[in-house]
Amino acid sequence: MPDPLNDLTAAVLAGPKYAAIVPELARRLAAAELAKGRSPKEALKATRNKLHQVGGAYLGGRMDYPDWADRLAAVSADPAALQAECRAILAAHASSRERLPILDDFYAAIFAALGPVNSVLDVACGLNPLTLPWLPPDLTYYGVDIYTDMTAFCDEFRARLGRPGRVWAADVLAQPPDTAVDVAFVFKTLPCLEQVDKDAGRTLLRALNAARLVVSFPVTSLGGRAKGMPANYAARFEALAAAEGWPIQPLNITGELVYLVEKG
Ligand SMILES: C[S@@+](CC[C@H](N)C(=O)[O-])C[C@H]1O[C@@H](n2cnc3c(N)ncnc32)[C@H](O)[C@@H]1O
Repeated sequence: MPDPLNDLTAAVLAGPKYAAIVPELARRLAAAELAKGRSPKEALKATRNKLHQVGGAYLGGRMDYPDWADRLAAVSADPAALQAECRAILAAHASSRERLPILDDFYAAIFAALGPVNSVLDVACGLNPLTLPWLPPDLTYYGVDIYTDMTAFCDEFRARLGRPGRVWAADVLAQPPDTAVDVAFVFKTLPCLEQVDKDAGRTLLRALNAARLVVSFPVTSLGGRAKGMPANYAARFEALAAAEGWPIQPLNITGELVYLVEKG
């Protein structure tokens, strides 16, 4: 029997830009578009647009994972060269590219505020596992994002460095990760998830199995404009945390709006 949702999901994933996205997310977004009464052609376009907004828009050019893996392997014994190579690759994701100028200070400020930490979960991590050389060496690092190829590449990098943990692909809204960790990082991701579901941020933060969260927001749009973003994000997030009864502490980091949240 024909199944319009199966057909639409398969058509979405047939596009080369969408082939590595976890099928559950493509299916969930496709179902939402069909439920609006769109034709299959309109629903295909609208689903791909949404996937572009939440993921594709951040990717710059060709993501050459096999070449990157070779380049990283070639410098793995030289810490300075490894960090330089990681920086070059981090520039391929708009979100981590924006953070490159402040990367050292960013983690220094976060770990100074956190104190000793054994494990983190990096939610919607993008290429952020490539910042493992900046993180404490004994830290167990978990990361999750929607791209099967990106997360496999990042997990291979983690394993090659000999760091405990795992990086995997999942739709964190459909399956919020229940991995128990000391801290969850939710960097610049809530506005992105809220494009699909306006209550997604609250639902996700509640579900995370961590007593503490580090939640951040961009201070400019992807196009580089400020548009009053920090003030808007701050007001909305501080209201959310107050409603949940979560104490928060803003961290003094230039270039990104960062909060430490005591979820308890
Ligand atoms: C603004 S970027 C932030 C990336 C990373 N946290 C950082 O700060 O560098 C948003 C990330 O969310 C991921 N993403 C979007 N929707 C998601 C979902 N439903 N589940 C998991 N990851 C998602 C995208 O692929 C993208 O890497």
